[in-house]
Amino acid sequence: MEQKRVYLDNSATTVVDPEVIREMQPYFSDVYGNASSFHYFGRQAKVALNSARKKVADILNAESEEIFFNGCGTESDNIAILGIVNAYDKKRGHIITTKIEHHAVLYACKYLEKNGYEVTYLDVNRDGTVSVEDFKKTIKDNTLLVTIMHANNEVGSIQPIENIAAELKKINEKRKDKIYFHTDAVQTAGKVRLNVKKLGVDLLTMSAHKFNGPKGIGALYIKKGVNISPITFGGHHENGLRPGTENIPYIIGFAKALEISYSKIEEYDKKVLALREKLKKGILSIIPDVVINGSGNTAISSILNVSFNYIEGESLLLMLDMKGIAVSTGSACASGSAEPSHVLSAMHVDPISAQGAIRFSFDCHNTEEDVNYVLEVLPKTVSNLRLMSPIWSQKIFKGRSKN
Ligand SMILES: Cc1ncc(COP(=O)(O)O)c(C=O)c1O
Repeated sequence: MEQKRVYLDNSATTVVDPEVIREMQPYFSDVYGNASSFHYFGRQAKVALNSARKKVADILNAESEEIFFNGCGTESDNIAILGIVNAYDKKRGHIITTKIEHHAVLYACKYLEKNGYEVTYLDVNRDGTVSVEDFKKTIKDNTLLVTIMHANNEVGSIQPIENIAAELKKINEKRKDKIYFHTDAVQTAGKVRLNVKKLGVDLLTMSAHKFNGPKGIGALYIKKGVNISPITFGGHHENGLRPGTENIPYIIGFAKALEISYSKIEEYDKKVLALREKLKKGILSIIPDVVINGSGNTAISSILNVSFNYIEGESLLLMLDMKGIAVSTGSACASGSAEPSHVLSAMHVDPISAQGAIRFSFDCHNTEEDVNYVLEVLPKTVSNLRLMSPIWSQKIFKGRSKN
């Protein structure tokens, strides 16, 4: 019998919507010109590029000139951070971020630190959110950039972006050197209505493969007037900020996927939230010694991060995979030792819980049947793994010896 498959790793990537594939198809074979060429084929591609850019801009309440397509969310984050830094001299050498950013941001910041910049990494609370008050205290005379993610990719915690932007606006009004504000919205684009004006950010990162678009295409919103320099060099594409022939089929796919997800955003959110809550309630009612990490009222609907104490998240992931269930862990298995996730560590999740953390992430294609299957498989899998766990055995033994 064929293995049943349940995909609950939608924060890693999503299936491409068939409508998106249909929309992209002609741009591989019919409209294949280079958008920089002056002839008919090039002009056709340019028209398609312009209309995709306008579609994305309209959805975000931005202007077409404020949307810059590029290779992925990682590239967008790097252009935003390094591009702003490159536009100024080191006198403006202070950057503020958080301890829970995606590595696309954290490693760009680490690179800057190695090159003589100062980076402040804000703490988060037990829910995985930063405090606006803490943020305000970290501003310095030479602060140039604040980069704080919209929603965290491991626990789903939503950061108070609008409040931080409002505080920054007040601070900027009183100083000569403007502080820029970038947000990595990779986990919220297509899932939450993003309005760049309402959010109050200067730069915003998105990636199509997180909202049922193709992999390998990202976009960066950059507010008009922001002073930014390229970080790669070549042609004049994307207004000189991101040289390289534009990937028209993928750009078309990006715009279509965003359009589809926005047209059904509330309906999808309701569905995904109901599935997540069903799984959460089911787990809490059947499996002892579990901890829910960060997924409260301050989290996006698509992510449920659960710690199954006394087992290794990686072992659980592998056992679930054998049963056809795809999930992920936050841990990085480096050189044989499973390091607890930097996000859970920043949230002060205790090491036993951090080791046993699993992320279930949903999208609109998941069903109640998927959740029922997980609830059927998970309790037995967890208890089998716990039987092999020395810490769990000690705990059970101690409990018994009390009676
Ligand atoms: C919050 C966040 N930022 C950036 C990225 C990187 O996006 P991409 O895979 O498109 O490079 C991811 C991907 O998981 C993410 O979750």
